[in-house]
Amino acid sequence: MTQPSPIAAVVLCAGLGKRMNSSRAKVLHPILGRPLAWYPINTAFELGAQQVVAVVGHQADEVKAALTGGFAGQTVQFALQAQQRGTGDAVNAARGALTGFTGAVLILYGDVPLLTVETLKRLLAAYDPAKGPLAMITCRLADPTGYGRVLRGSGHVVEGIVEHKDATAEQKLIAEVNAGIYVVDAKFLWGALERLTPQNAQGELYLTDIVAQAAKVGTVAVIEAPAEETAGVNDRAELADRAEVIRARINLRHMRAGVTLTHPASTFIDAAVEIGPETTLGPNVSLQGDCEIGANATIGQGSVLMHTTVGDHSEVKPYSVLEEAVVGPKCHVGPFARLRPGTVLEEGVHVGNFVETKKARLRKGTKAGHLSYLGDADIGAGCNIGAGTITCNYDGVNKHETVLGAGVFIGSDTQLVAPVRVGDGAFIGAGSTITEDVPAGALSISRTPQTIKEGWAERRRKVLAGLKQD
Ligand code: UD1
Ligand code: CA
Repeated sequence: MTQPSPIAAVVLCAGLGKRMNSSRAKVLHPILGRPLAWYPINTAFELGAQQVVAVVGHQADEVKAALTGGFAGQTVQFALQAQQRGTGDAVNAARGALTGFTGAVLILYGDVPLLTVETLKRLLAAYDPAKGPLAMITCRLADPTGYGRVLRGSGHVVEGIVEHKDATAEQKLIAEVNAGIYVVDAKFLWGALERLTPQNAQGELYLTDIVAQAAKVGTVAVIEAPAEETAGVNDRAELADRAEVIRARINLRHMRAGVTLTHPASTFIDAAVEIGPETTLGPNVSLQGDCEIGANATIGQGSVLMHTTVGDHSEVKPYSVLEEAVVGPKCHVGPFARLRPGTVLEEGVHVGNFVETKKARLRKGTKAGHLSYLGDADIGAGCNIGAGTITCNYDGVNKHETVLGAGVFIGSDTQLVAPVRVGDGAFIGAGSTITEDVPAGALSISRTPQTIKEGWAERRRKVLAGLKQD
């Protein structure tokens, strides 16, 4: 056993991906809130790679932007492959970024998202630079069409790879294919890449040709991996298939960590989401972006949360939609609530059905139970917001703020015409249109005083009967 080598990873992300039929580079297509290429890069970091270089080409700026950040504080380096002249040329583009690196270079594809850390650890365990400078992953496929075939000589020793387009009819019968994942000694790699030539059916610099070179100076180590893990993405149908596997893995991880999913088959949890233990997600829940859900919380059936935080012991009842909202602990939201960006619910707030909030802070213990719009509002602690309360925050040009003190009681069907302030403990009578500030402790009521006309209905009926034409 030799000492384990330090690892750097090169992830090939330069291709366009013609079969996606997309104006967007293939590696940018999202799976559970992350671009496709995030997955292999993240796996390389999890494996312990000290440097990860993504080789970009098509839409390089967009790809770089999408892959900057999101790796638990670790930074991806980028190398540009200006022209796609083959996988060998692509790896060579990373050479400058790895100047001075002398360990093992792991080569991954940006469009192969399902490889696990466990499989890569097996590959690294098989790699022994004292015996040979290269280890690779192969798979056995019922239909190997399109893949490079593994050529083995006497004693089953790997001698090289032949691409499908260059293979003879006999070689095409070989079921063992090249997964395209290798670990290679850095010094050997750069030398081997210099010796590549485009004398092949596609006129490309094939990375696969370094395998024959490695076979000349040592033994090529091989591990077999399940075909599920090495499957790439070529079109949108494959993207959906890989996403399905990733979704199931994410769900499993959360269930193992103590989250109850009542119906995992319909639960969508993005890769970045964090969920505390003893929390329950109902059927058809979708948690998108960087949601953070606390412990002992419940997210009810059909709710969709985007970039939202939910505190411990809070309940989001079914069919609520929350976007860029912060829900504190012990809150009750929904059913059918809509919390829009900038909503902050402090501890113990209740927001009920058909309540919409936007840029609104509801302080501790406040209740808005039914049918309201609360926008650009700062609402004090312990307020009661009656059914049908509307903050009229928009004058047609600008947005204005509504500020309520603590313990304010807003009667049902009230319009608060902003900018407007209501002081601590004030009461607003039901059906009021409040256009002026209300001082603390006051009652404000703006509706027309009620009048009563005794016997009016009977008189009216008689008048109408007299007018009736047959
Ligand atoms: C490659 C292997 C093949 C293997 C298969 C497994 C070569 C020559 N062949 O074939 O033996 O069975 O993978 O999937 O390596 N890329 C670049 N720049 C380039 C060319 C490719 O970044 O100039 C990227 C692509 O975006 C893609 C990856 O490298 O992510 C693989 O390239 P692709 O052309 O799809 O190789 P295959 O023909 O699949
Ligand atoms: Ca491919």
